[in-house]
Parts: sequence; structure tokens; C-alpha cells
Amino acid sequence: MSLVIIKIGGSTIDTPGLIQEFAQSVGDICYDYRPAIVHGGGKDIARQLDSLKKEYSFVEGMRVTDAETIKVVQMVLSGDVNKRIVNELLLERVPAVGISGVDGGLLTVSKMLVNGQDIGFVGEIKNINTDVLTALFEYSFIPVISPVSRGKDGEFYNVNADLAASKLAMVYEAEDLIFISDVPGVMIDGAVRKTIRVSEIEGLIASGDITGGMIPKLRSAAEAVQKGVGRVHICGWNGSDTLLNELTEENSTGTVIQE
Ligand SMILES: Nc1ncnc2c1ncn2[C@@H]1O[C@H](COP(=O)(O)OP(=O)(O)OP(=O)(O)O)[C@@H](O)[C@H]1O
Ligand SMILES: [Mg+2]
Repeated sequence: MSLVIIKIGGSTIDTPGLIQEFAQSVGDICYDYRPAIVHGGGKDIARQLDSLKKEYSFVEGMRVTDAETIKVVQMVLSGDVNKRIVNELLLERVPAVGISGVDGGLLTVSKMLVNGQDIGFVGEIKNINTDVLTALFEYSFIPVISPVSRGKDGEFYNVNADLAASKLAMVYEAEDLIFISDVPGVMIDGAVRKTIRVSEIEGLIASGDITGGMIPKLRSAAEAVQKGVGRVHICGWNGSDTLLNELTEENSTGTVIQE
């Protein structure tokens, strides 16, 4: 069965009813494909930080993460968000197991510098213990992965979920990598671009056409395409047929990243 890495963003998790639809959609594909799910949770983290009156900022779409923030990120992502997704999948009889980058040493990271700048406990993936997902797959469990990870220094690090999804897709040689976001695709001049070439991406960032969270998403999509992941799509949520359509149709409803 071909492996599919599905990354879902904070708003899919946050919009009422969408996690349930997502769970149904995973249920529909899991007899023909082997999915692994990586989730973000930007909206939930923001809400929690706001309630604590904790200010936050981003550098090139990456969250600046101090010692207090990483605690909140881990609680929200590896706790609440991860278990909400697992619960919805189990309700749809999908045998989901929730883990984070920490568990089994799935992801080991070192501190990431963004443009040479130290932005705190933000990790760059250095090592993947592939046994972790292989063991789950062997018993047909569907992994649901929170990207919070650990460093060799024993600290916890926040890892952008898009980067984690693309690294996992590369290492496990996934056939498909699907990023589900809160936009219908990559928008350029007000319309969804059906295809974007890897060679265009840095130019579109420099020109300001691509900003915020779309920056790490496109950079990680580009890396995945270059490292042999079969198809890389960025799309919105279009109801419970979304995953099946992205996997079986010739084109994406959103954007396909091409070499
Ligand atoms: N050219 C662009 N086309 C589409 N979206 C863009 C573009 N440039 C910037 N964006 C922003 O990128 C956002 C998507 O990235 P964001 O990190 O916010 O969400 P996500 O990655 O889907 O979820 P999470 O970060 O919670 O995992 C969009 O909501 C939009 O505001
Ligand atoms: Mg994001």
C-alpha cells in the first residue's frame, strides 16, 4: 500500500465539524492507502497564549518560542489537539495512535537558526527513528503526529508541522504529501495557482507574494519534491471527498508543486 503523509493545519482542527469530516475522509482511504497524519495547531496555540496574555511573534513564518511558550505549545499540540484528532478517528473506527516527535525518539532536532537568528526552542530535524512508524504500520495503526520534538540536549523543541510532514514523507518515501490548509491553494494575484515550480518559490517569497506560514510550507514542499516524494499538493478542505480526490484525480483542487 502506498504511503500518504497528510498534514492538517490549525484551522481544519478548529472549525466545528471539520475534524469529524476529516476522520471520515481518512476512513474512506485507509483500505487503499497507508496514511500518516501530521498536525499543526497554530490557532489553538494562539488562543492559549492569548488567554495567558503572552505575546508572540514569527520570523519567516516560524514561531519565536521561549521556555514558557514551548511548554504551552507542547500542552496544546501533543495534548489537546493530538488527542482530539485521535478521538475523532477512533469514532470513525480508524485505528489511530497519537504520538509526538518526542515518543520513541521519532524526531531528534537541533536548534534552528532562521536567517542566522536564534528564535528560541525551534527545532530543525536531524534524525528520524524510522522504527517508530514502521512498528505502528505493522499492526495497521494510523499514526497521528504532533511535531513537538526533543533535542540531544534533552530540551523540547517546537518544530513547524509542515517541515515535520515533509521530512517524514522523504524518509518513508511517501507517494503523496498533502498539505491541507485554510486557503484553497497557493494564491498569486488573487487566484489559486494550479502549479508552482520549485525554482519559482524563492522569487515569490522575495516579491512578497508568499508570506507567513506559506513560506515554510512551500520550502518544505519544494524539498520533498526534490527528494523524490511522488506528488506534493497544497489545498483547502472541500468536504469528506477531499483526500480521495487529491489522491485519485489527475489535478489537485489547489496547488501542485513541481520540480
Ligand atoms: N500566497 C499565499 N497563498 C495562500 N496563503 C498564503 C499566501 N501567503 C501567505 N499565506 C498565508 O499562509 C497561511 C497558511 O499557513 P499557516 O501556517 O497559517 O496555516 P497552516 O500551516 O495550514 O496551519 P498550522 O500552521 O496551524 O499548521 C494562510 O492562511 C495565509 O494567510
Ligand atoms: Mg503553518
